[in-house]
Amino acid sequence: QKRKFDTLIEMHEKAATLYQHVLLKTKVGEPALDYLYQRGLTDEQIEHFGIGFAPTENSLLRRVFENDGYSEEMLAASGLMSQRDNGEFFDRFFGRIMFPIRNNQGKLVAFSGRLFDQYLLDQKKSPKYLNSPETEIFNKRQVLYNFHEARKVGRKENELVLFEGFMDVIAAYNAGIKNGVASMGTSLTSEQINTLQRTVSQVLVCYDGDNAGKEASFRAMNVINDHSALDISLVLLPERMDPDEFIQKYGPERFVNLLKNHRESPFTFKLEYYKQNKNLDNELDRLEYLETMVRELLSVNSVIEREVYIKQLADDFDVSVEAIQAEIQKGLTNQA
Ligand code: GTP
Ligand code: MN
Ligand code: MN
Ligand code: MN
Ligand code: MN
Repeated sequence: QKRKFDTLIEMHEKAATLYQHVLLKTKVGEPALDYLYQRGLTDEQIEHFGIGFAPTENSLLRRVFENDGYSEEMLAASGLMSQRDNGEFFDRFFGRIMFPIRNNQGKLVAFSGRLFDQYLLDQKKSPKYLNSPETEIFNKRQVLYNFHEARKVGRKENELVLFEGFMDVIAAYNAGIKNGVASMGTSLTSEQINTLQRTVSQVLVCYDGDNAGKEASFRAMNVINDHSALDISLVLLPERMDPDEFIQKYGPERFVNLLKNHRESPFTFKLEYYKQNKNLDNELDRLEYLETMVRELLSVNSVIEREVYIKQLADDFDVSVEAIQAEIQKGLTNQA
């Protein structure tokens, strides 16, 4: 007798096979496939990431499952079905491009489906991405998209790259960055950080270049610091661009160069971050900003690094290195 867990995985594998067949081999899949090609995906990438299409007709998967003899209990437990008031099942995902989500061991445990019809998106009645609900096999706090694949390269390079979106992971993969992962559209959890920490000692945060992305970078950096000893660096993308868009616009080489040669340390990131909403020509704002940065300097452990930043701050603000050092000393005494 097969365990329920294995049966649920098996149902997901069947669904993924079906969705991919619909995308690649059928007429109803054509608009979705065109959309993916337009976004620069190749057949090879589509196959590698197992991308598919759930057709608009919302009983396809249900009929396949019923035909295969799965019980109603299993239909409900899979998270792949919704239920009408009269108890009738229908497919949870329809009219969406389907991204299979594997758990950290590589088992297929969930999907995320993207709406791509601009009309439907404009109506805003349905979310752009719809995820599987939490089930017995899917805990979204645990899962990092693409982790199972990324861990191999991650181990070798001792680094994983954190993206916001699935499409960023996929575009980066195409550009040769194969150690990319993404959380499930939520902020980074302590469980995910533990997974990262067991695999590598460095993470590179590469979130979207909009305000939301900057805020998310700031939060990710803090939560990683609070929960781990991971070394963090960050890459800032141009305003309003995400990694996928950057690669489409400037090409893979420039993206690789950005990740390699244009990293920020947490401190230099904060140096810019705390300038937001401040007018540094204003005396009070300047003082507040300097105090914030001195507080941040207290948590820079490397003495050498700290020296560099102190010089940088002193130069930028036309104060003496000694004054900043004195402030830090005061802070350290208060901490003790
Ligand atoms: P594309 O528009 O396809 O390029 O996706 P994106 O990854 O650029 O999306 P965005 O930057 O808007 O959001 C980043 C991530 O947040 C996505 O990959 C999803 O995981 C998640 N996300 C975005 N929109 C939604 C939504 O409407 N619902 C849910 N649950 N998650 C979302
Ligand atoms: Mn975004
Ligand atoms: Mn994005
Ligand atoms: Mn995007
Ligand atoms: Mn350069």
